[in-house]
Amino acid sequence: MGRLVPVLFGYAAFQQLNAGCRLGLFDLLEKEGPLSAERVAEALDIERRAADVLLLGTTALGLTEVADGAYRNGPPVATAFAQGLWPVLKDIVEFQDRVSYLPAADYTESLRTGENVGIRHFPGDTRDLYTRLSGVPGLEELFYRCMHSWSALSNPVLVEGTDFTGVRRVLDVGGGDAVNAIALARAHPELRITVLDRPGALEVAERNIREAGLAERVETAAADIFTDPYPGGHDCVLFAHQLVIWSPEQNLALLRKAHQAVEPGGRVMVFNAFSDDDGAGPLYAALDNVYFTTLPFRHSTIYRWEQCEGWLREAGFTEVGRTTGTGWTPHGVVTGRRAAAP
Ligand SMILES: C[S@@+](CC[C@H](N)C(=O)[O-])C[C@H]1O[C@@H](n2cnc3c(N)ncnc32)[C@H](O)[C@@H]1O
Repeated sequence: MGRLVPVLFGYAAFQQLNAGCRLGLFDLLEKEGPLSAERVAEALDIERRAADVLLLGTTALGLTEVADGAYRNGPPVATAFAQGLWPVLKDIVEFQDRVSYLPAADYTESLRTGENVGIRHFPGDTRDLYTRLSGVPGLEELFYRCMHSWSALSNPVLVEGTDFTGVRRVLDVGGGDAVNAIALARAHPELRITVLDRPGALEVAERNIREAGLAERVETAAADIFTDPYPGGHDCVLFAHQLVIWSPEQNLALLRKAHQAVEPGGRVMVFNAFSDDDGAGPLYAALDNVYFTTLPFRHSTIYRWEQCEGWLREAGFTEVGRTTGTGWTPHGVVTGRRAAAP
């Protein structure tokens, strides 16, 4: 029954990480560790009792370590700092704290009703999270900053692991703040990319593209991805973190639009997290599904690889294949090609 402990106290495990981030514990230990509990209490400006409670929590979870009464960051946190990924991870923790955490308590009700009940935490009367973002001051910025970090963490499988040979112009459907478009443009100097999204997202995207000095190769187009036509002239359509939001029927409709948007020989790429075909994991996908069930839209799900591959075939794509990532998240890319004209 010991396996119940991290599950029963799952909410508490997250709050140990969250408090360590918000109080600056991990930044402090990275800069000045190893440190005694007394020094941690002083530096974080909290009572000694509070420091003891926090350090017990983070240490038991492996986020910090103690030897001879001195604390340092544990392996996952130390690795994130060493790889330059700590700011990315901190954004993701903030996303879980400020966006995902309270709505997760609506999971049972969401399963029971088939609705994304957690969306009630964000004002508005539309049914998907994205159209509600602009209703809360600062939420749009927070969402795109944190979404940026989720993508930056997981997109090496797309940017470095996927073959773009022969691709010249990518249409990045629902491209958000252009995080993937910018990474692709940097990695593949011959690529031009169009980011298609809601006007609110594109404000952030245009700033990022300008700051990256890529305005000549990365452009934006405001459109509704379902109801507006896709701009022509692209030989690859990318859906990044997009087909996890919608129902299988909507995904098929999006893929059919992609099939029409490219000339014969053109490609489609679907980049997001996938769950295993045997329905047994991985744990990341299983737990992330609580966010997808309670928040973005009533049908959001981390689908199995083979479901996605099936939609591509049904939409008319051939040469359907998958690229699995090598990181600790279950991200990957499913690709297909519109058959070349005979
Ligand atoms: C989960 S985010 C992914 C953003 C980006 N592709 C990434 O991987 O970081 C989904 C994106 O789809 C956009 N989106 C959702 N519904 C849309 C619609 N109907 N029309 C245009 N964009 C939409 C959102 O604004 C958001 O940027």
